[in-house]
Amino acid sequence: VAIEIASFKREHLDGVIRLFAADNWSTYVSDPERTYRAFTATGAISLVAIDGGEPVGVVQLQSDGAIQAHVSTIAVAESHRRRGIGHSLLREALARSGALQIDTISGFDQFYEGLAGRRFSGFRITRADLGLDGRTGA
Ligand SMILES: CC(C)(COP(=O)(O)OP(=O)(O)OC[C@H]1O[C@@H](n2cnc3c(N)ncnc32)[C@H](O)[C@@H]1OP(=O)(O)O)[C@@H](O)C(=O)NCCC(=O)NCCS
Repeated sequence: VAIEIASFKREHLDGVIRLFAADNWSTYVSDPERTYRAFTATGAISLVAIDGGEPVGVVQLQSDGAIQAHVSTIAVAESHRRRGIGHSLLREALARSGALQIDTISGFDQFYEGLAGRRFSGFRITRADLGLDGRTGA
């Protein structure tokens, strides 16, 4: 059966949370409604790879729709890795975004090296880093 790539919808939420749970991504697992809000936010391009009705991959880009896109998250089920699904998800998400390029920080350099990405240095700055601990608003 061919893998289908589709826009993320509410019906995919449980399966997507399971994907993240398998990789211990607590930021996406701890509050599924927060993950749903993130995936459906303005400027987010959120896609799932579906095999037999089940999400086996997910990507979220955020984009200005003209120049830049950024990978917020990408994950593929362990059972489905090294089949080009991650590559296809990024490709389709960039195409849909209308942007020219994707920037990302990486937790797994081999994936981006495999796509021949040009290397830069990156940072993640958290709410705690900026003294916003305990606040939920802007
Ligand atoms: C990163 C991830 C999404 C890649 O998904 P995938 O569907 O397996 O990726 P692809 O099959 O499209 O791989 C594309 C290329 O990346 C490279 N690559 C991917 N996985 C690799 C691995 N385990 N070792 C070495 N190179 C790898 C290869 O060059 C590969 O091309 P090839 O298979 O023709 O050699 C998946 O491994 C994953 O979910 N990992 C855990 C979560 C994670 O690390 N997310 C990224 C954090 S920034």
